[in-house]
Amino acid sequence: MDSNSQNIPTQSEEEVLKHLRSCLDETSEDQAIYFRIAAVLSSKISEGYFEAGEWLPSHRSLARSFDVNLTTITKSLNYLKDRGVISAQAGKGTVVRGRALDHTPPSYDVPDVTPEIDLSVHTQTLDAVKSILQDGASEFFASATSEIYSYYPAAGDTHSLDTARKWTRLLGFEETESSLAVTAGAQHALLIALSACMQRGDVILAPTVVYQGLKSSAKMLGLGILPVQIDEDGIIPDELEKSLRNPRVKALFVMPNFDNPTTITMSKERRAAIARIAKAHSLILIEDDVYRPLATDDLTSLRRLYPEGTFYFYSLSKVITPGCRFGILAYPPAFANAVATASRGSVWMPERYSLAIARWLIQSGAGREILKITRKTNVTRHEIARQILGPQLLQTREEGNIIWLPMATEAQAKQMKDRLAARGVGVSASDVFKIGENGQPDGIRIYKSSAKNEDEWRIALRTIASQFHQMN
Ligand SMILES: Cc1ncc(COP(=O)(O)O)c(C=O)c1O
Repeated sequence: MDSNSQNIPTQSEEEVLKHLRSCLDETSEDQAIYFRIAAVLSSKISEGYFEAGEWLPSHRSLARSFDVNLTTITKSLNYLKDRGVISAQAGKGTVVRGRALDHTPPSYDVPDVTPEIDLSVHTQTLDAVKSILQDGASEFFASATSEIYSYYPAAGDTHSLDTARKWTRLLGFEETESSLAVTAGAQHALLIALSACMQRGDVILAPTVVYQGLKSSAKMLGLGILPVQIDEDGIIPDELEKSLRNPRVKALFVMPNFDNPTTITMSKERRAAIARIAKAHSLILIEDDVYRPLATDDLTSLRRLYPEGTFYFYSLSKVITPGCRFGILAYPPAFANAVATASRGSVWMPERYSLAIARWLIQSGAGREILKITRKTNVTRHEIARQILGPQLLQTREEGNIIWLPMATEAQAKQMKDRLAARGVGVSASDVFKIGENGQPDGIRIYKSSAKNEDEWRIALRTIASQFHQMN
């Protein structure tokens, strides 16, 4: 909502009401008014504008300010009460309990009807990869079976850490040479990083449209998220500086390579500017690099520029297969204990069979082979997309597995998604990635890796192209 909101205890009630009223304009007019008012109040609570224990303005004042009747305000407040965000105290008013609400449903909800060609989420579909994994199955199951009888250190045992280092070297990623933890995938690494360096009520900054898993973890941990404007090179340094005036801001989530969903890969200059600002303000960076193993050139990271303040992670999901829950997290050494605690307190230890698959993949060379197949498939599919959608729509790097198709407005992006769903093609629209209501850019995200083969990919692209041209 308001990216520069501060906790302002000295504001008069009139100023508070005026501010709340102005936030209503940023909510979507497609929603019922009681829900929009509830959304304004809950996001003000999550941003820390209202703190736990603080009293909300009276029903009557809220009704006057939002220009609605008392029944509507009661409905809004009941909505928040039912979810434990506020509580009513007879004769006294409404007090904030302090829990944040996120009105965006997680995007991996199973849709009512699964589209025939579901490109809304990454899936490993390649027969060549499946047969490599099937051939190795007896080996990795045998190796895990002898190890499933015991616990092991929360952030990874010697075997798993060796596996992580071997993969790190194979990819040429020096970022993960030291202070390493093995996690159950990148989402788990993200959760650990957030839990290790932030506390309930702290705020994380993120691009206006962002990987939805960040929103889920932040919600779970009671963290506020505030958006930072982006341009075609990612987070705008001046906008980042402005957001740092809010003393609750502790960290920035960033994907300098193959950003999800926008596919932006930041220039060297932009990385340097972001790292410089982060260093100057002791801002912690949470750097998600899940797609970088797809690159064939030596893309760098923010962790290389600012190792003492950056949590950095990636996993096997996007380059090998998502069901193998193996992630690698490099953290600033000062956070070693906090990382071990967060790992222990979340899943204790990644699951053994996934670790065994990862070890086999990395030691046998099968992982490298699958990576090559995945890159080659992505490049071939990119070329097909270039032919069918036209080159002007594809600004993204060809090895990446996402395509981001820009649309003028959120409504158009949603309409496009609905039209495609009705024709059997699943994609994601920008609304699920947004923080606040008015973020830009808008578009649809397409996982090119998720089509079962090139014929299916062509069918999906022709459907997308025809709908896109009808709408433009
Ligand atoms: C940007 C980003 N980070 C993290 C993840 C989660 O990856 P994992 O399957 O390793 O938990 C995803 C999955 O979609 C992602 O797109």
